[in-house]
Amino acid sequence: MLVNFIEMLQDAKAHQYAVAHFNINNLEWTEYILEEMETLKRPVILGVSEGASRYMGGFLVVASFVKALLKTKKMTIPVCLHLDHGSSFEVCKEAIDAGFTSVMIDASRHLLSENIQITKEVVSYAHPLGVSVEAEVGHIDSNASSADSKAFNATVEDAKTLYEKTEIDALAPALGSVHGLYQGEPNLDFDRMLEIKETLPIPLVLHGGTGIEDEKIKKAIASGISKININTELQLVWSKAVRAFLEENKDVYDPRKIIGSGKDAIQNRVREIVMLFEAGRM
Ligand code: 13P
Repeated sequence: MLVNFIEMLQDAKAHQYAVAHFNINNLEWTEYILEEMETLKRPVILGVSEGASRYMGGFLVVASFVKALLKTKKMTIPVCLHLDHGSSFEVCKEAIDAGFTSVMIDASRHLLSENIQITKEVVSYAHPLGVSVEAEVGHIDSNASSADSKAFNATVEDAKTLYEKTEIDALAPALGSVHGLYQGEPNLDFDRMLEIKETLPIPLVLHGGTGIEDEKIKKAIASGISKININTELQLVWSKAVRAFLEENKDVYDPRKIIGSGKDAIQNRVREIVMLFEAGRM
């Protein structure tokens, strides 16, 4: 069933684990992730960035094939189809109109007052339609070091103001994680994470899940994180497996065999990630 993330994240928050948000890039990855999550009987958030959506033919194509997969595969787990880093109200509206059940409005490049304004607009369109909304405060960088991105870390005050003025359902505060590959060691501000968790009643989201050591992931969950976004990690394991397959099978040209040679790698990693996110479940 395609649902918003509210119930799944409330449960995660109550029982101190994190729901996995996996970014999807094509039909095959979506199938692999859904299949594995159905086997594990766990809810899942499928994240779709604007770029990935364009690559797959647009929001309507994505929403249509995800819905069709749920039906064809007789899926029983809750699945949330979530726009990742929507850059404007218009983009969020387009995803919602196409059938997405959740959106992230990322107005974190704007001043806080503008971030609030744009986020508010998205919430007032999304909520009456039953669509959940995630927002970002501070700014989460890409392929950078935690030290360099520190200047963009969220403050407790800004997190509180954004939440109170917008009534979002989940918040991604920038606290040292970055998207993609880290330069140096990830260095998360767990103290501030805990402070934000204690100040706000809503679940917190950790972006840039790739490359963070297991112990730090567990500490982040204990410090209030209920949703963790993973994108690059699945790209790394998939491309490694496909590269090895092509090395060993130089005559292969069937795209189904080439793409599918990364299936086990994705499913194995998905399983490990879900288990890690539930390691401290209460
Ligand atoms: P990674 O690519 O670092 O896993 O980050 C994913 C993410 O945060 C998507 O929003």
